[in-house]
Amino acid sequence: MLHILKYLLLSISTFGCLGVRGSGTHHSHLTICNAIAQAVSTKSSVFYPGNQYTSDNYHWAVSSTINSSCTVEPGTAEDIGKILRILGVTRTPFGVRGAGHTSNVGFSATTGVQIAMTRLDEVIYDAKTSIAKIGAGNVWDDVYEGLQPFNVSVVGGRVSGIGAAGFTLGGGYSYKTNEYGLTIDTVTGFEVVLPIGEVVFADATQYSDLFFGLKGGFNNFGVMTAIYMKTHAETFVWGGSITTTGVDEAVMAAVLNFYSTVTDPKAAILPTFNYDSSIGIVSRSLGLFYHAPEPPQGMFDDFLALPALVQNVSTRSLLSLITAFPEPTGLRGAFHTLSLHTLSSAFLDAVVNETQFWSTQLSPSVPGLFISYDVEPFLSSYLSHGSPSAWPPSREIALLPINLYFAWALPENDTVIHEVMTQSVDYLTEVAIAEGQDIADAPLYPNYAISGVPLEDMYGQNVERLKHIKATYDPANVMGLTGGWKF
Ligand SMILES: Cc1cc2nc3c(=O)[nH]c(=O)nc-3n(C[C@H](O)[C@H](O)[C@H](O)COP(=O)(O)OP(=O)(O)OC[C@H]3O[C@@H](n4cnc5c(N)ncnc54)[C@H](O)[C@@H]3O)c2cc1C
Ligand SMILES: *[C@@H]1O[C@H](CO)[C@@H](O)[C@H](O)[C@H]1NC(C)=O
Ligand SMILES: *[C@@H]1O[C@H](CO)[C@@H](O)[C@H](O)[C@H]1NC(C)=O
Ligand SMILES: *[C@@H]1O[C@H](CO)[C@@H](O)[C@H](O)[C@H]1NC(C)=O
Ligand SMILES: *[C@@H]1O[C@H](CO)[C@@H](O)[C@H](O)[C@H]1NC(C)=O
Ligand SMILES: *[C@@H]1O[C@H](CO)[C@@H](O)[C@H](O)[C@H]1NC(C)=O
Repeated sequence: MLHILKYLLLSISTFGCLGVRGSGTHHSHLTICNAIAQAVSTKSSVFYPGNQYTSDNYHWAVSSTINSSCTVEPGTAEDIGKILRILGVTRTPFGVRGAGHTSNVGFSATTGVQIAMTRLDEVIYDAKTSIAKIGAGNVWDDVYEGLQPFNVSVVGGRVSGIGAAGFTLGGGYSYKTNEYGLTIDTVTGFEVVLPIGEVVFADATQYSDLFFGLKGGFNNFGVMTAIYMKTHAETFVWGGSITTTGVDEAVMAAVLNFYSTVTDPKAAILPTFNYDSSIGIVSRSLGLFYHAPEPPQGMFDDFLALPALVQNVSTRSLLSLITAFPEPTGLRGAFHTLSLHTLSSAFLDAVVNETQFWSTQLSPSVPGLFISYDVEPFLSSYLSHGSPSAWPPSREIALLPINLYFAWALPENDTVIHEVMTQSVDYLTEVAIAEGQDIADAPLYPNYAISGVPLEDMYGQNVERLKHIKATYDPANVMGLTGGWKF
């Protein structure tokens, strides 16, 4: 305790003199890095430019990477408490990074102190309660692999490399969402370090308002160190990916037929309508999933009959399944979204037209262009599995998220892509409204929404309550020093 106080006092006096409160310079950040290095236990380390520093700042979208002043890999929740107190007292900007998959710039990156959660990589299964403790530094691949020996799994990511932390703190759409709900609906509790440095456990009975807030409310209340999740029995699943081109009518017919006839909650699809300038074609990738080693006869036949450029579908582990979905990397990137009530043929036509229109419009002058529109059909019952959460603000209507993903090579094109994505979402929203869908105020999924979307458009009527919870747990606005959706 004395040890921490000493460094806090040192920091306060140093920064009081330099007069850098609220406007840290690179030099002052380095002094903070030193103070952190001295305050933390031997389980944690601070890094400067070099290997570890580079991987701590790494982001899936190149445009989301920022070179921080230093990185810190905390090894314990207590050390995170010490770090937050130093950052808070000195008003130093910081980032909290799970696996760096956000495409919004500054949401998990900083010019100040980057906190990379990688060392908190526990995956512990308790056979008595069937609950898994998942450290906040895990990617889903490692979670699935860690649980596999016990023949159990969880409701998590659909492609390789995604952080369990950001995915869960935003809600979490999984291949198992029809069966068990969003990932947050399977969370029984979170371990969290509050900005004052205290480590608490939040669940439905203790710190229940904090628990509510964390289920969709990201980094507003503190740093989450572990997720406690329900598991279910699982050995092998069935599925994978199919990539096609030139057969849009057949793809759309298969998607609509699946959406309107399949009510088995163990089944799911993830259709994406793409344009890839590296191969110069409009392609369609379909993720297929059934939560058993074999699907019922006939259920996926329309998809399996499509002439495929690549077909990678089999009975396999969940880990193998998520690595079978190809995703381009190494480019700049952005996500955006709208929420539907229902999927129609006219809407899918409009999506296909968007991929064609924007690829024709942009590809001549946007090097590296990749365009992808995910259509995510879920059963209308999928929000019935959980309890109230920061997101979605209402569980009355099951929303179907549409995810736009654009990638490109040059920073000079950042602004135009941001504008095009916003315009495309507005256009598709009008298309859905014109066909009678009441989606003008349908909440957007915060893990897909592009920077600049107002809080109300995602959290709706929950915004006031979330602001109140934030003020309760973070009265000094320490978490305001890090980026993201801010209450
Ligand atoms: C290829 C790809 C596929 C995707 N597929 C899906 C999908 O199938 N379903 C879905 O729902 N989403 C999906 N997403 C979106 C994904 O859920 C978000 O990008 C998510 O935030 C990633 O989590 P992360 O830990 O990797 O991100 P990060 O960028 O590390 O973090 C995202 C946000 O969470 C905060 N955060 C992270 N860790 C902590 C912590 N321990 N405590 C407090 N705050 C923290 C960060 O500060 C940041 O604001 C996908 C994204 C990509 C790029
Ligand atoms: C970060 O620093 C490295 C090494 O100096 C440099 O190559 C890289 O371009 C920098 N990245 C950003 C995003 O500034
Ligand atoms: C998991 O399942 C496999 C294959 O069915 C079996 O051989 C193994 O004993 C099981 N392990 C446990 C811990 O139940
Ligand atoms: C299928 O996916 C697996 C990963 O699960 C990968 O190793 C393999 O190369 C893929 N096969 C094809 C043909 O793409
Ligand atoms: C195709 O998309 C563009 C851009 O959103 C739109 O202006 C145009 O009207 C659409 N065309 C058709 C046939 O839907
Ligand atoms: C993308 O950036 C390049 C380089 O500055 C520029 O020539 C091109 O016109 C930009 N494309 C668009 C669509 O703005």
